[in-house]
Amino acid sequence: MHTPPDAADRGRILLVDDEPAFQRLGANFLRGLGHEVLVAGDGEQALAAFATQPAPDLVLLDLAMPPSMDPEAGLALVPRFARVPVIVWSGHGDHELALRAAELGAWDFLTKPIDPDMLRFVIGRALRKAKLDAELRALRAVQAGDDMGLIGQAQATVQLRAMVRRVGPTRVSVLVLGPTGSGKELVARALHACSPQSASGFVAIHCGALSAELLESELFGHLKGSFTGAYRDQPGLVEVAHGGTLFLDEVGEMPPPMQVKLLRFLQEGTFVPVGGRSQKKAEVRVVAATHRDLEAMVRDGSFREDLYYRLKGVVLRTPALSERPADVPLLATRFLHRVAPRAGLSGDALAWLAAREWPGNVRELKALIEAAGALLLQDQPEVDAPLLRLAAGEADEGHHGAAESADPLEGLGPLDAALAELERRLVRDAMQSAGGNQSEAARRLGISRVGLIKKLARLGLR
Ligand SMILES: Nc1ncnc2c1ncn2[C@@H]1O[C@H](COP(=O)(O)OP(=O)(O)OP(=O)(O)O)[C@@H](O)[C@H]1O
Ligand SMILES: [Mg+2]
Repeated sequence: MHTPPDAADRGRILLVDDEPAFQRLGANFLRGLGHEVLVAGDGEQALAAFATQPAPDLVLLDLAMPPSMDPEAGLALVPRFARVPVIVWSGHGDHELALRAAELGAWDFLTKPIDPDMLRFVIGRALRKAKLDAELRALRAVQAGDDMGLIGQAQATVQLRAMVRRVGPTRVSVLVLGPTGSGKELVARALHACSPQSASGFVAIHCGALSAELLESELFGHLKGSFTGAYRDQPGLVEVAHGGTLFLDEVGEMPPPMQVKLLRFLQEGTFVPVGGRSQKKAEVRVVAATHRDLEAMVRDGSFREDLYYRLKGVVLRTPALSERPADVPLLATRFLHRVAPRAGLSGDALAWLAAREWPGNVRELKALIEAAGALLLQDQPEVDAPLLRLAAGEADEGHHGAAESADPLEGLGPLDAALAELERRLVRDAMQSAGGNQSEAARRLGISRVGLIKKLARLGLR
């Protein structure tokens, strides 16, 4: 009469009861339904069994057990079985006891003698609910682990993502600092995306691309006729961004007269359109970015100190790609999959990427991978090092890494050849005395590890 439950409804059940006969019967019954059963005779044993791995999916708990036989002691156990359904039973069909158990989070309350059909039904439903809860938790975890477009697994990138998640939802001004192509705008967009204002606009303005006059009319708008070419009233970007995020890109380039007006807007939330008389209001969250050393600019007087402090509520730094080499293969693979979903990167391609310095940072890597993806032949499953060299416009030097047997000094003039030979000896000696440790050898030579790896490849040294 009992149909065995689906695999999905089978679980690992902890049966807690002090009566040996009940333990035996209960365990047999449950095993007959396809469940795995752990048996405990008192509260202490139950907690120990609950701590085993894998943890039980469900707990059946008798309330009156030794030593005290007091149902209160049994009740106190209910919250200890965190996250799994607890089905409580008792010899007394006590209404108040059932209520207390429910208040403590018990899934159901059964009265002895236990009706097997009822037990089977209650267990099945509880296990299905527990499974849904677990799925929901996992989904939430994935959502929390959403990379917001900021790909990377290097420590610095992981920290940056954590900071974005933390700072994004606040109203605080954020200053994003980092070299060109390192993801400053991406961070600004991610901050906006995880802010409560994400439904409103994200408006970006490049502060270096416009003259002071044009920048002012872009930011604060202008009235018809206020200057030649102002044929109609135009709202400022601060109004367009109202309720959302205003991204001031390359804020270090902002001309000094505009710095004053921007500061006033940031402090008072008011502005006057070009050619206008009355003040207007707008409320925006400001994210500013620059690759310049703003502190140095403050010191030499080219950037207003008060504006600097107003902008730098929180400073986020996007590190150069060379400071997070662990991100290179991941970024490269993801960029490649966007243009060639089935293609991969060969081992020598990854080595080639790792040995490169990236002055243009992620932007440079992205452009290179996209170019390589476009050059991929129809039946070519992998991007390899020669293809990357082709994409990088270095195809004519192609024999460097590919043919290690070839003399790397071939074709060089006498001075170049002599210098290259000298370099080769110095590098080889440093590697030998460092016992093959690249970081140590690089330190001895006074160059970066990446620089060393490049040299090793170029000189044909391993
Ligand atoms: N962590 C990352 N994950 C994925 N893509 C990235 C990452 N960092 C940067 N990018 C991509 O690299 C390119 C350059 O990034 P972005 O424009 O944000 O850099 P930037 O720091 O603002 O550069 P610039 O100083 O030149 O304005 C963009 O296409 C961006 O999507
Ligand atoms: Mg940018």
